[in-house]
Amino acid sequence: MDTIGSVGLQPRERASNCPQEGMPRPPDSLELVQKCLQQFQVTKTQLQQIQASLLCSMEQALKGHHSPAPSVRMLPTYVGSTPHGTEQGDFLVLELGATGASLRVLWVTLTGTKEHSVEPKSQEFEIPQEVTLGTGQQLFDFAARCLSEFLDAHPTENQDLKLGFNFSFPCHQTGLDRSILISWTKGFRCSGVEGQDVVQLLREAIQRQGTYNIDVVAMVNDTVGTMMGCELGTRPCEVGLIVDTGTNACYMEEARHVAALDEDRGRSCVSIEWGSFYDAKALGPVLTTFDQALDHDSLTPGAQRFEKMIGGLYLGELVRLVLVHLTQHGVLFGGCSSPALLSQGSILLEHVAEIEDPATGTAHAHTILQHLGLSPQASDAEMVKHVCAAVCTRAAQLCAAALAAVLSRLQHSREQQTLHVAVATGGRVFERHPRFHRTLKEVVTLLVPECDVSFIPSVDGGGRGVAMVTAVAARLAAHRHVLEETLAPFQLDLEQLTVVQAQMREAMARGLRGEASSLRMLPTYVRATPDGSERGDFLALDLGGTNFRVLLVRVAEGSVQITNQVYSIPECVAQGSGQQLFDHIVDCIVHFQQKQGLSGQSLPLGFTFSFPCKQLGLDQGILLNWTKGFNASGCEGQDVVYLLREAIRRRQAVELNVVAIVNDTVGTMMSCGYDDPRCEIGLIVGTGTNACYMEELRNVAGVAGDEGHMCINMEWGAFGDDGSLGMLSTCFDASVDQASINPGKQRFEKMISGMYLGEIVRHILLHLTSLGVLFRGQKTQCLQTRDIFKTKFLSEIESDSLALRQVRAILEDLGLTLTSDDALMVLEVCQAVSRRAAQLCGAGVAAVAEKMRDNRGLRELSVSVGVDGTLYKLHPHFSRLVSATVQKLAPHCTVTFLQSEDGSGKGAALVTAVACRLAQTAMADGLSKNDAITPD
Ligand code: G6P
Ligand code: BGC
Ligand code: BGC
Repeated sequence: MDTIGSVGLQPRERASNCPQEGMPRPPDSLELVQKCLQQFQVTKTQLQQIQASLLCSMEQALKGHHSPAPSVRMLPTYVGSTPHGTEQGDFLVLELGATGASLRVLWVTLTGTKEHSVEPKSQEFEIPQEVTLGTGQQLFDFAARCLSEFLDAHPTENQDLKLGFNFSFPCHQTGLDRSILISWTKGFRCSGVEGQDVVQLLREAIQRQGTYNIDVVAMVNDTVGTMMGCELGTRPCEVGLIVDTGTNACYMEEARHVAALDEDRGRSCVSIEWGSFYDAKALGPVLTTFDQALDHDSLTPGAQRFEKMIGGLYLGELVRLVLVHLTQHGVLFGGCSSPALLSQGSILLEHVAEIEDPATGTAHAHTILQHLGLSPQASDAEMVKHVCAAVCTRAAQLCAAALAAVLSRLQHSREQQTLHVAVATGGRVFERHPRFHRTLKEVVTLLVPECDVSFIPSVDGGGRGVAMVTAVAARLAAHRHVLEETLAPFQLDLEQLTVVQAQMREAMARGLRGEASSLRMLPTYVRATPDGSERGDFLALDLGGTNFRVLLVRVAEGSVQITNQVYSIPECVAQGSGQQLFDHIVDCIVHFQQKQGLSGQSLPLGFTFSFPCKQLGLDQGILLNWTKGFNASGCEGQDVVYLLREAIRRRQAVELNVVAIVNDTVGTMMSCGYDDPRCEIGLIVGTGTNACYMEELRNVAGVAGDEGHMCINMEWGAFGDDGSLGMLSTCFDASVDQASINPGKQRFEKMISGMYLGEIVRHILLHLTSLGVLFRGQKTQCLQTRDIFKTKFLSEIESDSLALRQVRAILEDLGLTLTSDDALMVLEVCQAVSRRAAQLCGAGVAAVAEKMRDNRGLRELSVSVGVDGTLYKLHPHFSRLVSATVQKLAPHCTVTFLQSEDGSGKGAALVTAVACRLAQTAMADGLSKNDAITPD
């Protein structure tokens, strides 16, 4: 029989056979006692099965598996690093639940150096039973009163009181200061607390108390406080183990293994909550009838089964149940029991620990048994010692099996065969029970011999550890405050967006009337969207977006075929001379024609030129100013169709018939309009941003005629260049604008489009780094490099899955080392910047839709918007936020967004096709080509 540390009883001489006072012991009493205590003997195999089953349950819970529900919880604690000892400051710590029905308040001073430590001040308060079983409000008001009493007794100048709440019950944490109580344990059962955020309940109670302004910045489980408060020389403890009234452990798990955390680097402390461990196959055979009875009569039958075999709240009760059993069988106290012995909870942990004391145990046993109204004989006291030993040895063995499971888990998650680890221990079972610690060590060594484990007893019950976590939480809270302050101007509310919408409406009206306005509202000479009768082959150019493309567009009955080639526009060409730029364009056209076997063919060409042009006709567009990083000389103020034709002319032997120049917004509207005739708005949110829409001709000053519609290129990128967006502009926007090649220009675009969002984020990150909030204040050269933080990073970072991993990967590629808190902040910065961009864009679309609804005097308008642009297409949330903003600001408009699949090149070809069709009809009617396309 491979029993371990069996407490085998040596038959003792019976002193005497006492009458009623002492009925003779039944003959089989020794057997009965042995049978009784044998139940508490656990074999090595059984312990290994418990170890394996607990390990399996831990791994199931880590993966977030719910069926079957793992019996341990593996709760993230949001403690991401063991202490680096630099934490400083004075902190209040409130301990509730670690040591039964008592509450402790501590004042802990962290000096930031190991050499110099300050003894914490503390005060303990007994919690009356009517409070532990009362309402939650009673409990938290009691706690707030104790805090106040403590501070009255320990006056301090420091008004900025930061408190760490050491709350030793299973909680679902979603942050250091957000913690939902899952269920009470250890004899607590206050109503109205389970499922509630206990940090909030404490904050409200402190408020109700109203005596001190205490900021609760962290909730910490006692195992975590114990772990964080201990270190072995330079090696921090990475496991925290508590055996007090209850039992539990925590340890530093690889963050990537914790499904509940979206992390792939670093470690995170997990509270196992092994008290609720149960597995009928592994634990069933070890459960005794006494365990069943104890559980049955407990406050929480069926719950915390493992804890009820180990926790100090239950050890005394188990001993009592065994003593009652043996007394009822006449084995003890001559079969004479006492009301005290028969009453639940009458034997406490302290009693068991004293009885187990090798030196004074027997004497203590006598005192305690007499105190229970029993008249023990010497052999009774010895027997009682055996019972205590059996119960506590098993508790230590089971605890060891559980700890061995944690150590095996650490070996797995760190892929280490040999593990060197320091375990911080805390709790009165450790402190008071003579042999518990030794037995635990022995069994751990037996079960995981390859692990080199050092046990570090916690000196102050984890108070310092909780203060350390509080210090980290206070620092993070302060950082979070700075972050929220920094990002507040990016949170636009409905009122602000309504103002933007109204200002845009006014600017549109002024622009249409030809008055001074930051919105130029440029007529495009596109009067109608395609009607499907277009036919033929067309060349199209698409310049102004991320890529320059040359396209061949074949328009046939019910189908449009597109062949295209992407060419790059080197920065030196985009910012060189106009001649260079247009010669480069013609080179690309010729290369494309050769590749497509079109050389020598003079196909009608539509030119998508995505810059603000004052059009004098469909094929005449005066470039007003470059945008989006283009700055080719000699172009502004010129007719770009003429510049293209000149370049074609310079390149002899090339025949091209430039028929139309369109803005990419117009091309996109036309392209989508080919499939959906309701598409009367074009929107680009890419490198730049802009919109166009079909306006009533009567409203367009400078273009003759009142009938029909004309597409207006709003050039909304320049909205606010008159300062009307000043109220929304932040210092980061100003930095981006000042560093741009067109300061003061395209202010709306610089708050929305892809060319600038990354830069806005970079400036915010620089600002937060300079305040020490990010990257430990380390401003790397990389982060100070312009355009290093691409806007596409926002789309990658904000992709729902693995967001924090994306942040880490991207920022580490930029040479930054970051903590998970840094990653979270960068994610929030990206979200704030892109959300503002989408909301502003939505306010713009709402302004256009409402204008069209008013134009047509409609109660409800249904319109489609053709959209293109990398940011709109790739960002995971942008389109949804734009649409949501439009719904709020234009409730009487049903706006459908159509993502353009073929880009605006197809649109340019369709505009060209319409122009060609109109020209042919006119010719047929004897009119000149131009009169046809632009009748007036
Ligand atoms: C598509 C259109 C272009 C437009 C571009 C804008 O590619 O075909 O005409 O300029 O989108 O988006 P981008 O993200 O490339 O700037
Ligand atoms: C609680 C744990 C706590 C342990 C030790 C258990 O009952 O559920 O949260 O860590 O007791 O105090
Ligand atoms: C240009 C617009 C263009 C938009 C989207 C802006 O910078 O001024 O003409 O439509 O970018 O590409």
